[in-house]
Amino acid sequence: MNPRKIKDNIYWMGLVDWDRRLFDSLIPLPDGTSYNAFLIKGSEKTVLIDAVESSLYYELEAQLDTVAKLDYVISLHAEQDHSGCIPQILSRYPDAKLITSPKAKGILMDLLHISGESIITVKDGETLSLGDKTLEFIFTPWVHWPETMVAFLKEDKILFSCDFFGSHIASTDLFVTDEARVYEAAKRYYAEIMMPFRNIIRKNLEKISAYDIDLIAPSHGQLYPRPSFIIDAHKDWVDGPLKNKVVIPYVSMHQSTRKMVDYFISSLVEKGVSVERFNLVVTDIGKLAIALVDAGTIVIGTPTVLAGPHPNAVYSAFLANALRPRTKFLSIIGSYGWGGKTVEILAGMIPNLKVEVIEPVLVKGLPSEDAFKALDNLAETIATKHKEQGFK
Ligand code: FEO
Repeated sequence: MNPRKIKDNIYWMGLVDWDRRLFDSLIPLPDGTSYNAFLIKGSEKTVLIDAVESSLYYELEAQLDTVAKLDYVISLHAEQDHSGCIPQILSRYPDAKLITSPKAKGILMDLLHISGESIITVKDGETLSLGDKTLEFIFTPWVHWPETMVAFLKEDKILFSCDFFGSHIASTDLFVTDEARVYEAAKRYYAEIMMPFRNIIRKNLEKISAYDIDLIAPSHGQLYPRPSFIIDAHKDWVDGPLKNKVVIPYVSMHQSTRKMVDYFISSLVEKGVSVERFNLVVTDIGKLAIALVDAGTIVIGTPTVLAGPHPNAVYSAFLANALRPRTKFLSIIGSYGWGGKTVEILAGMIPNLKVEVIEPVLVKGLPSEDAFKALDNLAETIATKHKEQGFK
């Protein structure tokens, strides 16, 4: 795709990756993604903000054919999807300097073997004059690496936010037109990589609130001509009220645990609690991550296999512990054959979660009336706790 004009002398570059379905060999991308780089031509200096992965350089290189001279490359974030081809760019423009944060300098040198001599580091709040345009660098650590910063183009009121406010969407629409679609994708993105750092994200949101922003230009997905849409969404994900909702990641081997899950869901619904159910054999873990953002309670459903929880249930507990959702309550349900340490193992896997663990319901073999009664009691306990907490 050719460079696309955002405003006079400000262009989108990069590429739309329609076919990518996995990020970091881990995160599903159901809607592809884009890698957004930006070219700014000031009256005196020209800069490129971020780049693309080295294997995709050929697309950016074709766009750079329109750029005779480049004074600076700015790396807002050292992860390779935005920095991977910076060595090729510096080879193409040997007089260009690489501008980044002090922390990113070390990471870029480690990851890409870039010489420190070509790197200029900036301080938080430092500005760079391009002549008639001025960039201010604002440090926003842990979105989602420690070195991250954003850049504010003062005269045009554009915030180049790199991963912050990103969404994995492949589209020919440069600007957001369907906010509902982007909301889902951006919430997925937040859940998967930002949620563990939400206390720092809150501070970063406060920091950028001091700026009068007309447009947010992230490094993935579409640009936001209505910045309050995505800023307010992030504020809600970080600090908004939890929902009267139970998230149930589960796996079943011989259907006993599935019967318990099905019964438990009916019981919760009768008591006014909504449920999101994820069969871990087939689920998109991104959807599970989204559900965790504002869930009041997590209940893991698992059979006992080889004296412990099913490996898929172990994965869900590991994921929840890593993503650190604000969830207040957790329990476990499932069936076992003759024994094991399912509850102890799962309960020991969630030290990062500040949850009250509610008495699990584990039954031997096929669930009986006593098991269903115990599930009713668990559902009642959860419904009561949600009411006491004011979850809506
Ligand atoms: Fe899109 Fe953290 O890189």
